[in-house]
Amino acid sequence: MSDLRYAFLVTRGHGSADAAIAAHDGGTVLLDMKERRVIRRYGTGDVTAEYVRMRRAFTAHVGAPAFTVGGAGEFVVEELILGEHLLDLPLATRVSALRRLISEYARLTAHAGVEGAGMRDLLTHVFDRLIQNRGLRDRWDAAHLGDLATRMTWVPSAYEATAKNLMVSRGQRPVPIDLGDLQMQPFFAYPVGVLISAGGDVLDAFRRGVFDAEFEELWAAAGQTWSGGDAAREGVLVARAAFAATRDHDAGVPGGIDELFGARLTTIQPWLNDTRTGGFV
Ligand SMILES: Nc1ncnc2c1ncn2[C@@H]1O[C@H](COP(=O)(O)OP(=O)(O)O)[C@@H](O)[C@H]1O
Ligand SMILES: [Mg+2]
Repeated sequence: MSDLRYAFLVTRGHGSADAAIAAHDGGTVLLDMKERRVIRRYGTGDVTAEYVRMRRAFTAHVGAPAFTVGGAGEFVVEELILGEHLLDLPLATRVSALRRLISEYARLTAHAGVEGAGMRDLLTHVFDRLIQNRGLRDRWDAAHLGDLATRMTWVPSAYEATAKNLMVSRGQRPVPIDLGDLQMQPFFAYPVGVLISAGGDVLDAFRRGVFDAEFEELWAAAGQTWSGGDAAREGVLVARAAFAATRDHDAGVPGGIDELFGARLTTIQPWLNDTRTGGFV
């Protein structure tokens, strides 16, 4: 139900759009099948120079749609991706698309990464409240974060890392879409967020080490070592949950840090992940 939205078929008049979609972010998406392009006006407002800088860096390494800025920065014209949404594909295809996405993220991290705060710094202002909750504290203490605790490389990433915004083109290329809210995030936040929302079967595969080779590449690009094993894998899932909860808390999302963190942790509980959620992460 959360995916209900307005879509209009446009009969050809003066313009060339075939369908118009009211986007979740308050913007609009015009699909122009003939010219194979999408005209995307973002609900976040006009396109800034900083946005263009981040999106260029992102698109240079990750297979996102090629784009140009239109009008006086009011909209983006991007490549129309012919393919499928990640969640509509079988497990093997989802896994190979995600492996490729993580490798591309390693290149983004190596070339466009900026050294920044580690998890501990990020959490200082909420930590007291967090550790009052025994369950959350135990979960946090058990997570093996390695160097993420003290330093992380930050890269341009989409705010909402959800499998719904990952398409797979007919050439099997993973294509992140819905990039109106790009911002700097820790290097693992986007790929791990997409992985968490890509289905319980994908999360199981991650826990079995199916993605370890790509995680090694990604960690090396950030100047760190992926140790593999259960503790490291669980650690990065918990770190992703903590990062997202803190970010939402700082952005004014109601509920308190403990509630937000608790909700994020439930998305990585194995027993809740036997159905595809595609939910927000
Ligand atoms: N570049 C694109 N190529 C193909 N389809 C697209 C593209 N951009 C958007 N779409 C389609 O339009 C839908 C809504 O666009 P999106 O940018 O994800 O907006 P929302 O904010 O509503 O999630 C997508 O789920 C996808 O089906
Ligand atoms: Mg979307």
